[in-house]
Amino acid sequence: MDSEIIIHSRDVLFRISDALDMLSPQLSQHQLRTAYIAWELCKTLHLTEAIVDRVITASLIHDIGALTPEEKIDLHNFEEVDPEPHCVLGEYLLKDIHWLGACARLVRHHHRPWIIWQNQLAPENEWIEPQIIFLADYIERKINRNRFILHQHTQIIEHVLTNSGYLFSPMLVEKFSTASISEGFWLELVSPQLYNHLQKKIPCNDILLSLEEFSRIGVLLRNIIDFRTPYTATHSSGVAQSALHLAKLCNFSEYDLQLMWVAGNLHDFGKVGIPTRILEKPGRLSTKEHAIMKQHAFFTYNILNGLHGFEQICDWAAFHHENLRGTGYPFRLAAENVPLGARIISVADNITAMIEKRPYRSEMTDEQTRAILLFKSRRNYLDEHIVTLAMNNYEDIVGGIRKAQALAVEHYQMNFAPWIRYDGTGLKHE
Ligand SMILES: [Fe+2]
Ligand SMILES: [Fe+2]
Ligand SMILES: [Fe+2]
Repeated sequence: MDSEIIIHSRDVLFRISDALDMLSPQLSQHQLRTAYIAWELCKTLHLTEAIVDRVITASLIHDIGALTPEEKIDLHNFEEVDPEPHCVLGEYLLKDIHWLGACARLVRHHHRPWIIWQNQLAPENEWIEPQIIFLADYIERKINRNRFILHQHTQIIEHVLTNSGYLFSPMLVEKFSTASISEGFWLELVSPQLYNHLQKKIPCNDILLSLEEFSRIGVLLRNIIDFRTPYTATHSSGVAQSALHLAKLCNFSEYDLQLMWVAGNLHDFGKVGIPTRILEKPGRLSTKEHAIMKQHAFFTYNILNGLHGFEQICDWAAFHHENLRGTGYPFRLAAENVPLGARIISVADNITAMIEKRPYRSEMTDEQTRAILLFKSRRNYLDEHIVTLAMNNYEDIVGGIRKAQALAVEHYQMNFAPWIRYDGTGLKHE
């Protein structure tokens, strides 16, 4: 009998927050630092526990709707970029997840200036939470990471004061002046220990999630990666579906099938740290670009590793580019160390990728796909037994992939495409 894993929402939240900011040193810990500033503001405002929990949780993932690293960097640098799309998508991504749904409204309005709230005569309970995040986010983005914090904090405070009554509520700005008066506030904000410190101390609820509840986060995270551009909009849906199919053929238990569904959805989550111009390059990657690309499997490992109860999901997802010859990446694992679940995802990933259209090639025919699968199994790149199962059930598996991908396309076109502002090369377009 499989025992149900216990997943702590707080661990998951911190991991997602960290992963979303991992692309560049410029962004690193942006949301974590925003949460810290928001927390300090909350303390001076004496808000209820429920409000503080909501504000901090939303702060930790407030930019979840900025799907490409390029968009995140532009937003971070105050570039001429419309913040609306990432607010709308952020709300959309969170609203149906029960323990995050309460944050959706805050994320939706986290760039709304005070003047708009004021013109609408909005009551305090409507504006206070999104305004805290807006102010905290603004302060964090004003920090020049190449300068010592105590050589710039007075200018940051001045920027905030200048925008009082326009971008920010005067009352909040006053509270910020109190909260930020000590050097300790600023030193803590940029401390390399901030992650550990906040993870232990920050008051946000920790609830236990069932695997089924976590599965919904898996789908959300899958969409964040897949929906970055139309080229990859359906990849992980196809992989999760075909991995599930192959796992059934391998007689996995019901519980392991659930784990496989999550692992299939998350296998490429590490692409969150890869620039779009490399993911979508319309041609072969150079050796240097390929080295950057290879990191994605390691990032998947890093994000999931050590999460309580995730050992199997982590290994299955992160080892999908390992092979049985011991030449795969990121760990060059020997065959006996590549678990069955990872071998399955590897075959599923290969089939899905081959029948997909890429910017540099059209989709392969069934004959080509079958031939390559056989070739890779003979050369011991892929597991022979799983490839045989895939060959014997080829039409059903490919039919399942296409069905899952058709649903994903529909979802993408309806809800995401209207808000995507960055093309396949990561360039902004209106
Ligand atoms: Fe934002
Ligand atoms: Fe932000
Ligand atoms: Fe991959």
